[in-house]
Amino acid sequence: MCGLIGYIGNNAVASTLLSGLKNLEYRGYDSAGIALNDNNMIDVFKAKGKLENLKNLLETQSAKLGSSHIGIGHIRWATHGKATTENAHPHLSNDGKLVLVHNGIIENYQELRRQLQAEGFVFHSETDTETAVHLIDREYKKSHSLEQAVISAVKLLRGAFAFCIMHQDEPDKIIAVRKNAPLIIGIGNNENYIASDIPAIIGKVSGIIHLADNELAIVRQDSVEVKKLSGEPVIKPIEKIEFSPDVISKLGYKHFMLKEINEQPNILRQCLAAHIPAVDQPVSLDECTISLDFTKIKNISIIACGTSLHAAAFAQNLWEEWLHLPVHIEAASEYIYKHNLTDENSLVIGISQSGETADTITAVKQAQEKGAQLLLLTNRTDSSITRYSENVIPLNAGIEVSVAATKSYTAQLAALYWFGLYWAEQISSLSQGQLQAIKQSLLELPALAEEVLSHSADIKALADKLKNYHNFVYMARGINLTCALEGALKLKEISYINANAYAAGELKHGPIALLDENMPVMAILGSGITLSKMISNCAEAKARNAPLIAVASEKEDLPLDLFDYLIKIPGASHGIFPILANLPLQLLAYYIADGLGREVDQPRNLAKSVTVE
Ligand code: G6P
Repeated sequence: MCGLIGYIGNNAVASTLLSGLKNLEYRGYDSAGIALNDNNMIDVFKAKGKLENLKNLLETQSAKLGSSHIGIGHIRWATHGKATTENAHPHLSNDGKLVLVHNGIIENYQELRRQLQAEGFVFHSETDTETAVHLIDREYKKSHSLEQAVISAVKLLRGAFAFCIMHQDEPDKIIAVRKNAPLIIGIGNNENYIASDIPAIIGKVSGIIHLADNELAIVRQDSVEVKKLSGEPVIKPIEKIEFSPDVISKLGYKHFMLKEINEQPNILRQCLAAHIPAVDQPVSLDECTISLDFTKIKNISIIACGTSLHAAAFAQNLWEEWLHLPVHIEAASEYIYKHNLTDENSLVIGISQSGETADTITAVKQAQEKGAQLLLLTNRTDSSITRYSENVIPLNAGIEVSVAATKSYTAQLAALYWFGLYWAEQISSLSQGQLQAIKQSLLELPALAEEVLSHSADIKALADKLKNYHNFVYMARGINLTCALEGALKLKEISYINANAYAAGELKHGPIALLDENMPVMAILGSGITLSKMISNCAEAKARNAPLIAVASEKEDLPLDLFDYLIKIPGASHGIFPILANLPLQLLAYYIADGLGREVDQPRNLAKSVTVE
């Protein structure tokens, strides 16, 4: 949510900033802006809406773009103040000499704004960010040192922030500072970058420095100095970027989402190769650093948001059966308000693709304060959430660019699967026979996923038939409910079609009133004890004229004339079925959204990494 970039070097600054911002678009797209420092003055260019609008604006301003070697840029996901040009970053001081971009929220901005207004500062936007500009400017007027001014001012700010700051009279540097929001420094050859995330600088730098909270970097063309806010210097390691530049390329796919959906069989393959060496061998932790005292754990809470919360629900189903322990799942944003019983006998698991979701980080922090053991699952081992525990399971799905999560969700399910098995082995809660049967079906998963995805043309044809409905009901029972929840979320996120998921048994207690010929029902059937009841629920929907689509295992003998459309999944056991059944639902959401002409990778109002509570 909001992306920052800073650049100092000999390349054309405006286009360098733009290309960095392009790869940060997953963080927001309400407005964009850049500021250039050309020794004599700071020039600011801002445009409402997508980055494309800023690009078009800059094309009309080429005369002003040439002489600068230093600049900062921003892409916004609006929090305080509407998505207008006035509220777009960068924000300028009243004398036009100091400029900054910000990611995060300044919680005490109203109080500071009143104080600064009383001192004569004039505000031009509704943002919380503008208070920081005037505050730093006020401090600058006292010290005439940008570094000193930033240090004094940020100590007065409450909340979360990552800033890039420039001053016209100090044209040799950009100051970067962070607290509870991500920021990295990219080290180049006689040029340096600052960015919210790696995609902005991938392929352009030889290494990166991860700035920690309450650290400040003075970034010049040929040097980077890092200090604590106390002024004490910090020696930071320069780390290699582990991701290939392919992560920011669509590799021929129309959208990142489709590319990422198709990466899933290989992600599963790599994950299983690392953790399930063979059916008759114990689960391997591979490179995970996990040291948990399983004997102390009496209850498990899993906290997460959005798609990651659906992965939590999947684990709840599997683990209660395998581990015989109570598993609570909670939306991270709600966990913090509950009088929950987390204590030193609890294991609290935080799941976050980005590792930057503020709700999840706050909840994890609270669980830590209560003395719980912590375990974190994240796709970004360099993210903020990993500060809270050494016990981290990396998802290794590669950078996910499309805002709607697909491959990271599948990687979460696989990780929760193998880790549950590992735990069952540690406490001997499953027999050798059970463990081997589960491992066997798990090892078949990548090939089955490939087979499911090979039928994408059929799903596209189905999407064409369904795309003009305005409402959908998704229903399932047991562990497959997680699949219904995620399928419905995917559809609404990217197509803006209203889709709600229900436990199929609950339909008759209210939602069935919604059913008629305009309300397609998507039933995720599965196998085992839930199947016969699911078929009855399908019959009930059909009796109300709802168009009926089902995702079912091909090994089940089903009353075929009941369904208007059947998506068949190759025979898969309990637990594996929802991982596979999710794939056609991702494709269906994708093709419906694309068929409606939606901006699939950047759905309106959403951001991939939500760094505010
Ligand atoms: C945002 C994204 C969702 C995502 C959720 C949790 O809302 O739009 O796709 O599931 O955040 O993200 P996390 O990175 O914590 O898994």
